[in-house]
Amino acid sequence: MSTFVQLKNLVVPAPQTLSGFSLQPSPQSPRLLQLSFPAATVQAFLAMVEEWPVQALEYKSFLRFRVARILDDLCANTLQPVLINTLMDRATGGLLINAEGLDHVAQADEMVKLATAVSHLFGRSNFDAMSGQYYARFVVQNVDASDSYLRQPHRVLELHTDGTFVEQDTDYVLMMKIDEQNMEGGNSLLLHLDDWEDLATFNHHPLARRELRWTAPPSKRVDKDVFHPVFDNDAEGRPIISYIDQFVQPKNFEEGNWLTDLSQSLENSPAKLSVPVPVGSFLLINNHFWLHGRDRFTAHPGLRRELMRQRGYFTHAKVLREPRQ
Ligand SMILES: [Fe+2]
Repeated sequence: MSTFVQLKNLVVPAPQTLSGFSLQPSPQSPRLLQLSFPAATVQAFLAMVEEWPVQALEYKSFLRFRVARILDDLCANTLQPVLINTLMDRATGGLLINAEGLDHVAQADEMVKLATAVSHLFGRSNFDAMSGQYYARFVVQNVDASDSYLRQPHRVLELHTDGTFVEQDTDYVLMMKIDEQNMEGGNSLLLHLDDWEDLATFNHHPLARRELRWTAPPSKRVDKDVFHPVFDNDAEGRPIISYIDQFVQPKNFEEGNWLTDLSQSLENSPAKLSVPVPVGSFLLINNHFWLHGRDRFTAHPGLRRELMRQRGYFTHAKVLREPRQ
């Protein structure tokens, strides 16, 4: 698991003092908070980062942290502690973030900039082997010939966590909707580990902490297997999960059947949330105790959906500092 940096003099802003954004529970669950940037914040941010195209953020990693600071400054330094707190808080750990006026695929670069600013207020996004960048944009269309369910529209992408077959820490996952044409269905599916009614049963099973083998298909461009158990404990002894149905390789009858039971229990959980993510919005979740997936959608010859993801590690354990001077 990750090593967190603990900072001193931590101050959490009270909700009434938030500036430059609003925060409220989502309609789906009080665990998933909805954070909204009004147009004034979005426009001011985009104007201030205009000198840097996305390519500049790709080439110079440190600029990702500078655009983050610009966004936080526009929010009177109240954004960073809220993001860190929410993502670290076991009771929540998830956000649906939207930005007023950022809602068309023509603004894709602006979307990447805003998401980058948000993610670099609490972490650093990992190199994504699929794209060769710190983020990946990918398209889902009606017909697909890929080797996993990621881009296949007519199937449910089952609940899983990311980073199961890589050695990098994957503390958070950010999933943004960049475009959507002729879509029906396809909501994001989420499950908070503590809402899963069978958690105790599976977490206490003898196989819960057995090292299993995880391997990726060729498109992921990861050629080495990794070994880890499905369940682990966080620093406070609470269960966390690292699991994906398609890439775990049970070595025998016992493991294969336990994994099948696990998969069926997760998929059938009544606590699973179905969350529509509009164009320009993104989900941001703690990858250790939120599972995510995608519902099936209806076939349509003109179907197009474009997504952007970032995954990375936390750079802060708890809430930060007083406002910068
Ligand atoms: Fe995923």
